[in-house]
Amino acid sequence: MRAGFELNFSNTLMRIFDPLSPQPRLPENFVWGVATSSFQIEGAATADGKGPSIWDTFCRVPGAIADGSDGQIACDHYKLWEEDLDLIAGLGVDAYRFSLSWPRIRPTGRGAWNEKGLDFYERLVDGLLERGIKPYLTLNHWDLPDALQASGGWANRDTVHRFVEYANAVDKRMGSRIAAITTHNEPWVMAVLGYETGIFAPGIKSRAAAAQASHHLLLSHGLALQSLREQGCKAKLGIVLNLSPVQPASETAADKAQAVLEDGKLLRWYMDPLFKASYPDDVLRYLGADAPVVCAGDLQTIATPMDFLGVNYYSRSVVSADGPWDVHKSGLEVTDMGWEVYPEGLTELLVRMHRDYPVPPMYVTENGGAFKDQYVNGRVHDADRVRYIAQHIQAVADAIEQGVNMEGYMVWSLLDNFEWASGYAKRFGIVHVDYETQRRTLKDSALWYRSFLQHQHAESLKQESLALGA
Ligand code: FCB
Repeated sequence: MRAGFELNFSNTLMRIFDPLSPQPRLPENFVWGVATSSFQIEGAATADGKGPSIWDTFCRVPGAIADGSDGQIACDHYKLWEEDLDLIAGLGVDAYRFSLSWPRIRPTGRGAWNEKGLDFYERLVDGLLERGIKPYLTLNHWDLPDALQASGGWANRDTVHRFVEYANAVDKRMGSRIAAITTHNEPWVMAVLGYETGIFAPGIKSRAAAAQASHHLLLSHGLALQSLREQGCKAKLGIVLNLSPVQPASETAADKAQAVLEDGKLLRWYMDPLFKASYPDDVLRYLGADAPVVCAGDLQTIATPMDFLGVNYYSRSVVSADGPWDVHKSGLEVTDMGWEVYPEGLTELLVRMHRDYPVPPMYVTENGGAFKDQYVNGRVHDADRVRYIAQHIQAVADAIEQGVNMEGYMVWSLLDNFEWASGYAKRFGIVHVDYETQRRTLKDSALWYRSFLQHQHAESLKQESLALGA
């Protein structure tokens, strides 16, 4: 990893990499973006006919959210969306990754459609296009209609079909204007944190329910892809997984075996069905009687070819057979979430996926860090976040150099927002949000990203005119 680092905002072409070595040059059509999700920023929890989501309900469980907060107002993006789109455009990104609130569009998940919800997202999409930004839309970033949870949520096979109906309705209304549609964001998180450990909505604690939920999420992804294509959907279609390289805490046989199993549960449990139409044997053995019910044809459906694969990367995972690994042991920098800063893990992960699976072009659909920001005199000097993002962009460039087909990179997140069970205490934004006034302020990381992108685009133009002149 190149270490050199220098921040100087009077100089528009800031160097963040070793000044002696060139900045990484990503491919010509590489897509640069920023990302958010509906529940984390929109607020307007009951406005214009929106139904409750499982997160609205979960936030009311005493102790579920660290600071006792909820998504009622969040960043008030439902009202401030135009201002936010101007902010995005000002950064000079190519794409905006956002999600739709399913209960805003179909309040009970299976009954009437809410035209006002569809109208909101249509305005958002048109607003992006007017500003020259490609919409990257996620259908399910965790905020399932609460009414569907009453009949089991993702543990119930019926939800699969409700999801396909929802996907079709969104495509009918705006699909022709969308660059890419992601079915689900991070099925592992929804299944394991939502149904097994219960630390996320809907707060269930059952390994069997979690395994069944993961299968239904994957199945609904495959069925939605087939249905959207039959409908003539023009957008690129894919899914987003949260992945990490899993490393043993030591060289003991027990730690190594534990790491293999954890890799199975996190990565192979999703990648194998998506790309090999099978579940990994070791994880099936581990699940025993809790393994999901899989009907004939399900695995072939799940393996429906995708146009892209999104990877959300934050850190590596270190596992030990003796229980939780102490993250401070390694001496690496640790973010405010308690996650190690480990950019080389991103290169390792992408190269491994390229080697082990017939993957389509990949995106880093989320990457970023929560740090203890200080807002002083209208500025946030978040050098730690700048360094984090720059090092991970370098890690993507390193993977490309090793032959991996990468199409884009998106920072998590555009705005400080509702960080799920951590509430508002953890700030991931490159734009600071004052929750009292809803004022947005570009942090140094946003200023840096903007300059970095200007440099990338200037280089692309230079290459193009060189090619034309040649
Ligand atoms: C990911 C989620 C995203 C955000 C980041 C920090 O798991 O997709 O919504 O919370 O983590």
